[in-house]
Amino acid sequence: MNTRGVLREGEAVIFFDRKEREYLRRLEAGKTISIRGGKISTDSVLGSEEGVYVRSSLNEGFFVFRPSLARLVPNLPRQAQVIYPKDIGPLLLWADIFPGATVVEAGVGAGALTIALLRTVGQEGRVVSYEIREDFCRMARQNVAHFYGPAPQWTLKSGDIAASLEEREVDRIVLDLPEPWQATRQAWEALRPGGILAGYVPTTPQLKTLIDSLREHGGFIGVESFECLMRFWHVKGLSVRPQHRMVAHTGFITVAKRILAPT
Ligand SMILES: C[S@@+](CC[C@H](N)C(=O)[O-])C[C@H]1O[C@@H](n2cnc3c(N)ncnc32)[C@H](O)[C@@H]1O
Repeated sequence: MNTRGVLREGEAVIFFDRKEREYLRRLEAGKTISIRGGKISTDSVLGSEEGVYVRSSLNEGFFVFRPSLARLVPNLPRQAQVIYPKDIGPLLLWADIFPGATVVEAGVGAGALTIALLRTVGQEGRVVSYEIREDFCRMARQNVAHFYGPAPQWTLKSGDIAASLEEREVDRIVLDLPEPWQATRQAWEALRPGGILAGYVPTTPQLKTLIDSLREHGGFIGVESFECLMRFWHVKGLSVRPQHRMVAHTGFITVAKRILAPT
């Protein structure tokens, strides 16, 4: 994932129009990019600094930038729901994902969280991702290749994490799947003592079942759950107020620490 320098072949970029609508595209030399019926030659963007202004064949202007993670995630091609940036940030912090960490995650979906994990653990870390659906594996592989780049620190395993979690001495486990409680025992066995399990579920029955399973297992303490509300503001002239619309609910984040032996 390039973060600096001129825009290069193969990179993902976001085109912002004058209303700040966003269009995620990849730069492929010799090709033409289409946005709302207008065409832009990729070669007019390659080799430019970020922030360059280009015009399409319909004379519509766009600023071009590399996507920040917060811009990339909502624009990722996907078939499954991604974890939104408002939750990814706190999740990375509360699960205490760190450079060099070994992290297991399931499921992968479109790979939004995977990309955030890869970036956070860095080249010295390791991310092992389990995904039960082969078609989602293909999509995640493509998204990681297109929007993160080469990821030698990543292993993607096609399978049910509850049936096939093989790793041991793992620092962190992140479960974003419908029934994370099915993997509570396996997660405890995979985590090192002091390791952290993080779960992400959208509904209260799932939240309760997950927490009950952690308590019944007896191998975790410090179980905490929360949700994040993020309200953007409209600031223009004298109109300074919250935006009318917000994403009110996405999911609940739960974290728990693995103790040495279940009680
Ligand atoms: C909400 S999506 C994950 C989204 C992903 N975290 C992201 O940010 O793009 C849930 C995924 O879990 C997968 N899944 C469900 N049960 C699973 C299991 N037992 N083992 C592995 N993957 C599973 C589903 O196929 C689906 O892709």
